[in-house]
Amino acid sequence: MSQEKVIVLDFGGQYNQLIARRVRECNVYCEVHPHYISLDEIKKMSPKGIIFTGGPNSAYLEDSPSCSRQIFELGIPVLGICYGSQLMAHLLGGAVKTAPTSEYGKTEVNIDATSMLFDGVQANTICWMSHTDYIETPPDDFRIIGHTTVCPVAAMECPERGLYATQFHPEVMHTVEGQKMLSNFVYKICGCNGDWKMDSFVEKTIAQIRQKVGDGKVLCALSGGVDSSVAAVMLARAVGKQLTCVFVDHGLLRKNEGSEVEEVFGPNGPYDLNFIHVNAQDRFYNKLKGIEEPEQKRKIIGEEFIRVFEEEAKKIGAVDYLVQGTIYPDVIESGLGKSATIKSHHNVGGLPDYVDFKEIIEPLRLLFKDEVRQAGRELGIPEHLVSRQPFPGPGLGIRIIGEVTAEKVKIVQDADAIYREEIAKAGLSGTISQYFAALTNMRSVGVMGDLRTYDYAVALRAVTTTDFMTAECVEIPFEVLQRVMNRVVNEVKGVNRVVYDLTSKPPGTIEFE
Ligand code: XMP
Repeated sequence: MSQEKVIVLDFGGQYNQLIARRVRECNVYCEVHPHYISLDEIKKMSPKGIIFTGGPNSAYLEDSPSCSRQIFELGIPVLGICYGSQLMAHLLGGAVKTAPTSEYGKTEVNIDATSMLFDGVQANTICWMSHTDYIETPPDDFRIIGHTTVCPVAAMECPERGLYATQFHPEVMHTVEGQKMLSNFVYKICGCNGDWKMDSFVEKTIAQIRQKVGDGKVLCALSGGVDSSVAAVMLARAVGKQLTCVFVDHGLLRKNEGSEVEEVFGPNGPYDLNFIHVNAQDRFYNKLKGIEEPEQKRKIIGEEFIRVFEEEAKKIGAVDYLVQGTIYPDVIESGLGKSATIKSHHNVGGLPDYVDFKEIIEPLRLLFKDEVRQAGRELGIPEHLVSRQPFPGPGLGIRIIGEVTAEKVKIVQDADAIYREEIAKAGLSGTISQYFAALTNMRSVGVMGDLRTYDYAVALRAVTTTDFMTAECVEIPFEVLQRVMNRVVNEVKGVNRVVYDLTSKPPGTIEFE
């Protein structure tokens, strides 16, 4: 792992992950930590720079998230963004107040290009503002380096102490020169060299795994999805035949997926892996009988997965390590970071308390999805596998609202296969980040061939997203949707209605449960 690191302290803003991504795009490794981590923990990480995020609170209120004033004495450059800028001002003796005029959206900011932070930035530059408080007066030793018509301190600095702050958000695309500002911060102010590159990440991780595992045996939970495939190939590169990949068919896979995974990773595929295909459908269906609550379903599927792996591990004997394809958004969204728990992604938060392995290896835990794909390409995994749309670990179990039964699985598999076929035929696959059919728990009255039906409604979902933390619904041409609807109601027994989900994330999530 890279030594050079910038950390983001999370004060509850919505763009926190985005800041980390933008810094990584500068080839500097960056991770997000809760605002309350201790100074000792920060010192241990020896970051080259610290960035304070935005947040919805008022820095001057007692209960608002804060941090120790001594953070500014560590000799580590700090960039405060939005709430982070106000907190810096507040903690260092400046005045933060409710702004007479709030600013929201694209705003022209007049900056002072002699500041290192704005090196090479236009004197009048468009930035993204979103604030109701503002810094009325900066702390004593600070200099104002940016203002707007209504915001007297749109940016400030105290270069002698390495402290910088912007009221606007350099991390969002709408701040036209934001990437340049962040790059100035990490290179010119923090003195980073830019040693975070995907090839070096892949090579270093492989070397680390090799060292950790020694001559131990490793079991990999392979689902055939992008994340676990990349993790598996990485492990195969690291420890070769010490690795056994176990593919559990939990009966919640997409149509024909089992055989497709076997084709790629099985004995006739291109990789030299030990591969075990476990058919465990009945076992999962039994456990899920009568269970309707989404989190409970997730936990059951997650736990059963682990139990199956443990059993396979025992058959192999003396397996020390379990590999999982957990990626960064899984960690964050499972509430293991600071943010609220959204869902227990089964490969993280849904793990049972007791797992019968010496250790779990998660080589992709620090990567965003597109970084995982990039790592996959570095590893020489074919493009059609690397650019595959994601499929959740709990599979169709969370695309069937309510109780899961074999009959419902068949319905959603068939509807989904039709949907995917029509999307591919229409040439849209490459333009959509994730699309699938889900089975609602709603049955409604229809008429088919003059007969009354009382059948399920299938919901179609299609979203675009870069990081899967936020997503937009895709405008699929109406005729394509109609074709899918026609085929689904005609070809899939038990369905008499098809709806299209328009919801973005937030407020929805991508999956239904
Ligand atoms: P949500 O539904 O949380 O999904 O908006 C975001 C992305 O994560 C995938 N997802 C999962 N992936 N295990 C996984 O490996 C899970 O339990 C899980 N739940 C959701 C989802 O498909 C989307 O790409």
